[in-house]
Amino acid sequence: MSRMPIIAGNWKMHLTRRRAAALARAVAAAQGQADGRRCVVFPAFVHLEIVRRNLKGSNVQVGAQNCHEMKEGAFTGEISAPMLRDMGAQQVLVGHSERRHVFGETDARVAAKLAAVLANRMAAMVCVGETLEERESERTLEVLQRQIQALAGVLRAEHHGRFSVAYEPVWAIGTGRTATPRVAQEAHAAVRRLLAGILGAEMAARTPVLYGGSVKPGNADELLGQPDVDGLLVGGASLDIESFGPILAAAPSA
Ligand code: 13P
Repeated sequence: MSRMPIIAGNWKMHLTRRRAAALARAVAAAQGQADGRRCVVFPAFVHLEIVRRNLKGSNVQVGAQNCHEMKEGAFTGEISAPMLRDMGAQQVLVGHSERRHVFGETDARVAAKLAAVLANRMAAMVCVGETLEERESERTLEVLQRQIQALAGVLRAEHHGRFSVAYEPVWAIGTGRTATPRVAQEAHAAVRRLLAGILGAEMAARTPVLYGGSVKPGNADELLGQPDVDGLLVGGASLDIESFGPILAAAPSA
């Protein structure tokens, strides 16, 4: 089963409007007319509009890093899925490890956010992954199982094409410590087996599973070479076209 590679940049809480616009133009130029890979960037909410405008004419998608699960209401400081849709967001990251571990998002909350994104006809990229302590105590599989099982009540076959998973081991995020290709492949194969349990083997085989955690130009190739690694979700190295360009180029363009 061949799945089109996806290279995604999570810009987190970085950049100014001007720098976000310039980076968007550089990413659009680097992606060019490539139709053999997908590219998506996730700027901060306040930069969505300007990034969207600067990506116009390219096939690079723009997404948000988070959303609230309710469609509106007295939730000061929050942004809803309909607002994101209205803004032109095509994707939303759901359950990023920083949301789970810094902001205390539970599996149930992640599932509710996934439902909100899908109901608003955007694509969701759900992040899963274990902490260092969980890996060292051999609970990786148990954690992935719990995080994926929590999505079971929401995902249906009709969501195909609007749902991907990013495996991001927490110990590899922003630490410079990347999972070896073998460790990544093992976890990705497990994620796909778990997805098959709730979606069936055929849809699981068609669901993109991206790797994230200290991806750099020097390790992109090897990670993408693993059979179950369908793309990369890049943090730090996505903030600069000097590093994001070569990562994008590591995925086939036609
Ligand atoms: P780094 O690439 O900076 O480790 O971040 C990974 C990440 O969290 C992407 O969502």
